[in-house]
Formats: sequence, structure tokens, C-alpha cells
Amino acid sequence: MYREIAVFTGNSHPALATAVCNHLEIALGQAEVFQFSNEEIFVRYLENIRERDVFLIQPVVSPVNTRLMELLIMIDAAKRASAGRITAVVPYYAYGRSDKKDQPRVPVTARLVANFIEVAGADRVLSLDMHAGQIQGFFNIPLDELTAFPLVADYFHKLNLPTPVVVAPDVGRAKLAREIAGRIEGEIAIVDKRRTGNNDSAEALTIIGDVADKDCLIMDDEILTGTTVVSAIRLLRSRGARSVRVACVHPVMAAKAFAALDTTDVDELIFTDTLPLVHGEFKTVPTTVLSVASLIGDAIHRIHTGGSVGELFH
Ligand code: R5P
Repeated sequence: MYREIAVFTGNSHPALATAVCNHLEIALGQAEVFQFSNEEIFVRYLENIRERDVFLIQPVVSPVNTRLMELLIMIDAAKRASAGRITAVVPYYAYGRSDKKDQPRVPVTARLVANFIEVAGADRVLSLDMHAGQIQGFFNIPLDELTAFPLVADYFHKLNLPTPVVVAPDVGRAKLAREIAGRIEGEIAIVDKRRTGNNDSAEALTIIGDVADKDCLIMDDEILTGTTVVSAIRLLRSRGARSVRVACVHPVMAAKAFAALDTTDVDELIFTDTLPLVHGEFKTVPTTVLSVASLIGDAIHRIHTGGSVGELFH
């Protein structure tokens, strides 16, 4: 067994790391993580971590490549400081959309990032709702993947809407929509989405399911430009939806997502705090943030004590 838990953060999301530590009733570990004027990153732990169970909380968020390098260098520094075990806690795993060779001469960057994390010296990974299940298999070290979807489903349930319909914004999310609809005793609808090329454009072509006079709840894993959900919202409205709410786990939110969602007829936007909003803020659309801090904190506690992480899903 290892000595006590030590939690550290880079510069991605100190607020989440602090909230996780509050849940665990421990202090956030002290470390320096900064860039020199030549952009090289420097890390130094300011306390003894020898033989401790070290958790490094760092969602890979904009600026993505800098935050990724911070994580890798933090792992390296922890290894060289004789940490007992190092767990990379990556609430948002960037490059997750590059998870297969679905056209000629393209990389599988999600796999490359997994290799980086392993080679840097991580012993385990803890993440949330990765873009695709196969990313788990890109690692040869234990990986626990948590899910925030039950948290969102509970929130939907508490809204107590008269005619809830969980909407998958593309066919890939149909299974998830069915699971959530089951939890809240709602119906499901599926948007047939088309992406053209490798840019961010997406088009909602049609909807399978009845949404007229219904309370629609679009559920996606992440929102980047907002194109997917905005085209789905428009289509739902054109089909007579009574209300439309949008939820996602990871609010990646490029700058244009704020303007797009603020000017679209949406009743509420729900997302978690796996990553901070770094490119702007919403001005008109009502937002609700559900925190994953206690979920991550409970998982860290279970990993440290050898408890079941799977039980958290129930
Ligand atoms: C796609 O497979 C994902 O589940 C999301 O729908 C997508 O990443 C959202 O991207 P955007 O907001 O740029 O349409």
C-alpha cells in the first residue's frame, strides 16, 4: 500500500482540484507549474511526495497542447520524486475525437496521447465520459472511466417536466439517450446529423421520434462550436417542440459557441465542471452547472483504499 493521498493540479482547472480536495477533506498539494519566457514548462513539488498516492488533476483544456505538456511534466516530476503511485486524473481527455483511422493518412491522436501519459510514468488514469469507449483500450495501465450522465439524468428528473423526450443529437448517442430516458421515464428521439469534411460544420437532417408539444432534452458528451446542438435545437423547434434544454458533460465551448447558443431559442443549458469555460461566458441563455467534484473525490478515495469504483455508477 502507499502512503497518504496527495492531490496536485496544473493550471487547467484549479477550482475543480480545490473542490475535489474539499470533498476529500485534505489540502491541495503545493507545487509550482509555470512557463519560462521561452514557453518551456517547469514543475516542482513543494512538499515531500515520496511513497505517497499521488493524484494529478488536469483536464486537457485550452491551450490544449500546453496543458497536456504540463500534465506529462508533472507525471515525470512525480516519478523522479519517488511517488508511490501516480494517477493522472484527466476529467476531459482532449484529442478523443481522433480515435480511429476513418480516412486515409490520418493519425489516431487519442492513442498517441495515451502513449505519452504512459511513457511519462503514470501508473493509472482516471477520466470521465471519454469520447469513445475504445480509448480505454489505448492504455496498457488501469483506467477508470467515470460517467456524469447519471448526474445529468437526476437533474432532468428533478425538473419534473410533463412530457420529457431525451434527444440524441446524432445516432452515436442513441443508446445513451435510451438509458437516460429509461431513468426519467421519458421518450427518446434521434437526430440524423451529417458532418461534411474535417471542419466543424454539422447539419441536422431529420428527427426520428415525435417531439411536437414535448419537452426536449438534448444530451451530448461535449459541445465545442455548438454547431451540432444548435442545428438540433432549430430542427426541434421547427417540429413544434414545447421546450428545448441542452446538456453536455464537457463544455469545451470554443468562442463561437457562446454567441451561437446565446442567439438560439433554448430554454436552458446544463453542463458539468470537468473543465472551465476559457473562451467566454453566456450572456442570455440560462445555465446550470453540475459539479463532478464529489464523484471524482469518491473515486480517488476508492482507488486509494482499494474499493470498487464501479459501485459509483449505481
Ligand atoms: C460528436 O460526435 C460529439 O458527440 C459532439 O456532438 C461534438 O463533438 C460537438 O461538436 P460541435 O459543438 O462542434 O458541433
